[in-house]
Amino acid sequence: MNELRRRYLTTPIYYASGEPHIGHAYTTFLADTLARYHRQSGAHVFLLTGTDEYGQKIQEEAAKRGVEPQQLCDEMAARFASAWKEMDIEYDRFIRTTEEEHRGVVQAFLTRLHRRGFIYDDIYSGWYCVHEERYWTEKDLTPEGNCPDCGRPVRQIEEKNYFFRMSGFQEDLVQHIEEHPDWIVPEIRRNEVLGFLQQPLADLSISRPASRLHWGVPLPFDEGHVTYVWVDALINYLTASGAIDPDGSEGSQGFDDVTGSWWPADLHIVGKDILTPHAVYWPTLLMAAGLPLPRQLLVHGWWLSGKAKMSKSLGNVVDPLDLREEFGTDAVRWYLMREMPTGADASYTPERFLARYGELANVLGNLASRAISMIVRYRDGTVGDAAGSGLDGSIGSTLASYHEAMAELKVHDALEAAMDLARKANGYVETGEPWTLAKDPARGAELDEVLASLLRTLIVLSALFLPVMPRKMAELSSSLGLSSVPSLEEAVRIDTSTLEVRKLSPMFPKAETQV
Ligand code: MSP
Repeated sequence: MNELRRRYLTTPIYYASGEPHIGHAYTTFLADTLARYHRQSGAHVFLLTGTDEYGQKIQEEAAKRGVEPQQLCDEMAARFASAWKEMDIEYDRFIRTTEEEHRGVVQAFLTRLHRRGFIYDDIYSGWYCVHEERYWTEKDLTPEGNCPDCGRPVRQIEEKNYFFRMSGFQEDLVQHIEEHPDWIVPEIRRNEVLGFLQQPLADLSISRPASRLHWGVPLPFDEGHVTYVWVDALINYLTASGAIDPDGSEGSQGFDDVTGSWWPADLHIVGKDILTPHAVYWPTLLMAAGLPLPRQLLVHGWWLSGKAKMSKSLGNVVDPLDLREEFGTDAVRWYLMREMPTGADASYTPERFLARYGELANVLGNLASRAISMIVRYRDGTVGDAAGSGLDGSIGSTLASYHEAMAELKVHDALEAAMDLARKANGYVETGEPWTLAKDPARGAELDEVLASLLRTLIVLSALFLPVMPRKMAELSSSLGLSSVPSLEEAVRIDTSTLEVRKLSPMFPKAETQV
C-alpha cells in the first residue's frame, strides 16, 4: 500500500479518574471527523483513543471511593468506550495504559534511554502539586504559594528521582520546529512552543518513588520507582503503533526499524492545555530513543461556558452533550465542529446551538426535502441522465475549498464550504422554479436538467457531510437510492439515471427547545 495513503491519528488518552465530558468529546469528535474524511478518501486509517490509568490522581480517586485503582480504571475505561460507541466514534483501538503490552513497551523504551545514557538519578527537593503531578520551583508558585496551574496547595518534598536529559535536545527540537512550519498547528501554538524554548530547557523528572506512588509502571532499572505518568502516557501512541516488541527486554526490538508498523503517527490531536508534553517532552524522548517524530500536532482550544452569568440567571446551563437526546448526536457533532474554528476557543451557548441547528434544518434539511419530493412527485423517483451544467460549477469549486480546508485541518471551513453549496442549491431551486417547469409539458427537458442537477448535488452533499454526520448522511444517501454514502470521487461520477429516489422523513425536525 502506498505509504501516503496511510493515516495514523490519535486522540489524547483520557484520565480514568472522571466521567467523559464535552472537552473529551470535542477532541474525539474532531479526530473521528478527520479519520472519516481520510477513510472516505480511500486512505488506510488507524484511529487511536483510550484511557490514561496510572498516576497519583487515579490512586487518590480510587482511595476516595474505597476501591482498588484497577477497579476504578476498569469501570471508567468501559464508560469511555461505551460513550464513544454511542457517539459513533469509529476508533480502531482503545488502548489502556494498564495493559501488559503497554507496560512492556514503556519498560523497553526506558531501558533503551537508560542504555543510551540519557537517564540519571539525582535528589529532587522542591514543591510538588499532586493534582497536576508536577514539580514546581519557588518562583513558579502563585503569590499565595499554590500551584500555578490549578491553584491547589503544593507540598514540599525531597526525594530521589530519575531524570531524562531533555536539555540536550533543545537545539534539535527548535531546529525541527523551524524546519517544519506546519509541525504544530495553529501557528499561535507553534509560536508559544518556540517562545518557551527561548529559555534554557531543564531535564525532565521521569519517575516517582514507589513508596509514595505505587500505581505506575516500575522503572526497569530500579523497582523502587515508578514511571512519571506523562512519560508512560505519551508512549501509548508508540505501543498502539505496533512498532515496539513489548517483550523486548533488551529494549531494542523495533527501535531501529519501524517499517511495517503504524509509527510515526500522522497527527496527534490535543487540547492546548497539554501542548508542552506533546510538543516538548514527547519529541525529545523520541529523539533520544532514535525514533522518527510524529508528523504533525493539531492543538485545539477550549469550550468555555459562554455568557456564564446569563445562563446562570436563566438557570439553563446546558452541557451540549445533553442535547444529543433531543437533537441527535450528528447535530451536536455538527455544532461542535462548525462553531469552533479549529485551534481557537469557543463559547457554548444554547442560542448558538439553535442557530447552527437552524442551518441544518433550514438549509440542508430543507434542500433535501424539497428536492426529493419534487423528484418523487414529478418523475416518480427516477430522473433522466440529463447533463445540464446547473450546479456543476459550484460543486467543483466547493470540492476544491473543502479539500483545501481539510488539508489545513480547518474543519470548520470545510463544513462551511459544504453548507454554502447547499445554500446555492436552494437558490438554484428558487430561480429554476421546477414547479413552474412541471406545469408546462413542453419544458420537460428543462425540468429533467434541474432535477438531475439537484440530485447530483445532494449526492455530493451526503459525501461532504459524511465525516461530521455519519448517521444522517447514511439516511440521506439511502433515500437517494444509494447503498452507502459514496466517496467524493465517486459522488461526482454517479449516473443519476440509475437511482430510485424515495421519500425521506425530516432529517432535522423543528426544535422544541426554545431559549
Ligand atoms: N491524560 C491526559 C492526556 C494524555 S495524552 C498522552 C489528559 N487527559 S484529560 O482527561 O484531562 O483530557 C484531555 C483532553 O480533553 C485534552 O485534549 C483537553 O484539551 C480536552 N479538554 C478538557 N476540557 C476541555 C474543554 N473544556 N474544551 C475542550 N477540550 C478540553 O490531559
